[in-house]
Amino acid sequence: MCGIVGYTGSDPAVPVLLDGLERLEYRGYDSAGVAVVSPDKDLQIQKCKGRLNVLRRRLESQPPLEGTVGIGHTRWATHGEPNDVNSHPHVSQNGRIAVVHNGIIENYAEIKEFLQHKGVHFRSDTDSEVVAQLLEYCFADAVDPLDAVYAVLERLEGAYALGILCADRPDMLIAARKDAPLLLGYGDGESFIASDATAIIAHTRDVAYMADGEVAVLTRAGIQVFDEYRRPVEKEHHLIQWDVAAAEKGGYAHFMFKEIMEQPEALRQTISPRLRDGVLCFEELSLPEEKLRAFDRIYLVACGSSYHVGMVGKYNLERFLRLPVEVCLASEFRYSAPLVDQRSLVIVISQSGETLDSMAALREARRRGGYILSIVNVVGSSIARESDDVLYTWAGPEIAVATTKAYSTQLVLLTMFGLWMADKLGRADPADYAAVTAELALLPGKLETVLAATDLYQYLGSQYFNRDCIFYIGRNLDYALGLEGSLKLKEISYIHSESYAAGELKHGTISLIEPGTLVVALATYGPLFDKAVSNIVEVKSRGAQVVAVTTESRLAQMEKIADHTIPIPDTHPALQPNLGVVPLQLFAYYVALQRGCDIDKPKNLAKSVTVE
Ligand code: AGP
Ligand code: GLU
Repeated sequence: MCGIVGYTGSDPAVPVLLDGLERLEYRGYDSAGVAVVSPDKDLQIQKCKGRLNVLRRRLESQPPLEGTVGIGHTRWATHGEPNDVNSHPHVSQNGRIAVVHNGIIENYAEIKEFLQHKGVHFRSDTDSEVVAQLLEYCFADAVDPLDAVYAVLERLEGAYALGILCADRPDMLIAARKDAPLLLGYGDGESFIASDATAIIAHTRDVAYMADGEVAVLTRAGIQVFDEYRRPVEKEHHLIQWDVAAAEKGGYAHFMFKEIMEQPEALRQTISPRLRDGVLCFEELSLPEEKLRAFDRIYLVACGSSYHVGMVGKYNLERFLRLPVEVCLASEFRYSAPLVDQRSLVIVISQSGETLDSMAALREARRRGGYILSIVNVVGSSIARESDDVLYTWAGPEIAVATTKAYSTQLVLLTMFGLWMADKLGRADPADYAAVTAELALLPGKLETVLAATDLYQYLGSQYFNRDCIFYIGRNLDYALGLEGSLKLKEISYIHSESYAAGELKHGTISLIEPGTLVVALATYGPLFDKAVSNIVEVKSRGAQVVAVTTESRLAQMEKIADHTIPIPDTHPALQPNLGVVPLQLFAYYVALQRGCDIDKPKNLAKSVTVE
């Protein structure tokens, strides 16, 4: 959600900032701005509502902002409507301090009132402006800007990633973080801050992740980091494993399409280090065996698509492990007094590793004594760092707001983990274990054949793109799969869609089926195929048009019933959703394309939701 980039070096700052912001565009935003500082010109700012090209045009129509130290921001408004004034950077009353902020300052009203009583005049409706104004207020008593920064941080409640410029120290950029992502980039004679590595990967792959409470001072000479008590901190450096090409479209029209196509490779990267000669191995886990044996319950906690991974996971893990598995929406879990204790394994699933609801749920689970295992894509992200153990999905950077390859890799990894755990506990059925592991090795290849049928998905998209409502139905794993298919469609095409457990339709929702209503029926789960057929016949009898996704072995039977069929290769039932999801992703993609939607940046959505 929203983005920050900052630069200190010897090059003009503005092009570096704009390039960085452009690479952060995928996170979702409504306004953008930059500030630079130089010894001769003090602070210079340009900001406006709208996309980056609006900002670029404004910058082009005026004398260039001069300076080699600067901060840039893309805003996803939480407090105050998106407009030019509410855009960041925010400047203090005397114009000598500029701030960009991601997150929410929860006690902003109280600080604002305090400063207003002191005569400070506020320009914007944002919570963020209080940071700039309070800095100016505290700077009056401070010699060093860092003194003022620490004084301000002490008074802030809420979440923040901050980039701060001060006209009195034009060589310096200060950054601070609490509960919002921010990393440091170490270049040659230049230093960076960024909300995520995509913003600076063109300049450096050498990064360090800021921890909560830390403050960083960036100058051309390098970066100094201090903890909340202002003690110097030696940061651990990480080398980003992917390069700039991975975060670019590479000839594809949309990131989403590229990422869908990358799924076979992403699955290979996730599966192969953990599958050796038909044996699952999770060497990266530090989870002690006694602990593993003591778990009496598993919680799968996540939001959005990651939650849908949990829905599939519940079916698979309960079957493998014969342990109760609860799937929880992180935003509900955190306030529900969950029954987590020392015998609970809490698996937090997150692509970004920065989703605030999931992070808060993680902390709640930890407070109650749960063991936290996270399944995360972004290396070094907050959720990964706060977990007892982390399993990384090696999907590479995911830029499109609608997740595809991250979902697929989370799904396969959770299934693999569940089977591995069942084996460790002596509960895995040997034949099942052998069948799943054999199919895991074949999965990326089978997925390639599903991807090869793009013409079919495109044709179906062209037939149904103008619908007002589309239903998804399925049973068991297909029900969980339908939830994801429906979300993909809603997110990028803005078509209203409902996803139902097929057996539940008759308890109410079937009243919405009318002649011509499109129902996407998922019938890939072999053990309940006949039941799925009955439910398809039920909706057909009420005039529905049915697009059915089924396995090749059952295609002939399905062709007799459905209006259109989408075949996918057969695999082990536990892995079938990994193949079934792909036609749903591509159907949503082609429908959205036909409707002229902004596929990579759907309206009102952000890639990583770092506010509550
Ligand atoms: C998926 O297409 C969505 N963009 C959204 O539901 C997402 O899955 C959710 O916000 C969770 O994000 P996370 O996996 O980064 O925690
Ligand atoms: N809460 C701040 C605002 O509304 C920052 C939002 C953001 O993270 O972009 O301006």
